[in-house]
Amino acid sequence: MTHAFDEQYWETHWTSLSGASPAEHGGGTANPHVVDEIGALVPGTALDAGCGHGAEAIWLAARGWRVTAADVSGHALEQAAARAAGLALPRPVTWLQADLTAWEPEGRFDLVMTNYAHASMPQLDLYEQLSRWVAPGGTLLVVGHLEAPAAAGAPTGLPHAHPPAASVRPEDVAARLGRDGWRVETADRRARTVMRRPGHAMTLHDAVIRATRREG
Ligand SMILES: C[S@@+](CC[C@H](N)C(=O)[O-])C[C@H]1O[C@@H](n2cnc3c(N)ncnc32)[C@H](O)[C@@H]1O
Repeated sequence: MTHAFDEQYWETHWTSLSGASPAEHGGGTANPHVVDEIGALVPGTALDAGCGHGAEAIWLAARGWRVTAADVSGHALEQAAARAAGLALPRPVTWLQADLTAWEPEGRFDLVMTNYAHASMPQLDLYEQLSRWVAPGGTLLVVGHLEAPAAAGAPTGLPHAHPPAASVRPEDVAARLGRDGWRVETADRRARTVMRRPGHAMTLHDAVIRATRREG
C-alpha cells in the first residue's frame, strides 16, 4: 500500500496509537543507535526532526542539549510534551509543530538528527534538506529503515515491512551528502531486536549514518 505520509496520515497514525504505551510503537526509550552515535558528543543545539513521542529529544535534553523537537503531528507533540513535563530536565525541550518539507530554521544546529521520519517528499531529498541545517563542525545523524533487498530473507520475529519509498541504503545517504562538505563517520546496516509487546519480538533493519560537516 502506498501512503502520502502527509500531516493527515501522521495525525491519524498518532491518534490511533493514543491508547498504546510508547514501547508498543517504538518510542519507549531512546533509540540505541542514537545513544551509541551521539553519546560522546559535547552538547550544543539540536534538532530532532520528526520527533514523534519525543524519546530521543528528551534523552538529548537530559544530557544538556538545547533541543528543538519538530513534528508535523500536533497530537504526537502533545504526548511528547506531557511526557517531558513529568521529568526534571536541565533544559526544557522546544516542541515545534512544523512541516519539515516547508519549514526553514532561523539558524543552524550543532546536531540535526532524525529517526525513521518519512515525509511527503523522497527520502533522500528529506535527508539532504536536513543536512543543510547543520552548522559547520556539526553532526547529522540519520536512522532510517534499511532498503528491503539488503534485509530480505533475514529472520524477523513478525512479518514487518516498511514502505519501499521510506527506506534507504546507507551508502546512498552518504553519497547524497557529498565528500567535499562532509566527513562520514558511520554508514552502517544494523539489525536489532525489539520487544513491542510481551512475546512479540521484532527485528528491525536500520540504516545508520553519522556525518560531520566540515568547517569553512
Ligand atoms: C515513524 S515516526 C518516528 C517518530 C520518532 N522519531 C521515533 O523514532 O519514534 C515518523 C515521524 O515523522 C513525523 N513526520 C512525518 N512527516 C513530517 C514532516 N513533513 N514534518 C515533520 N514531521 C514529520 C511523523 O509525524 C512521525 O512522528
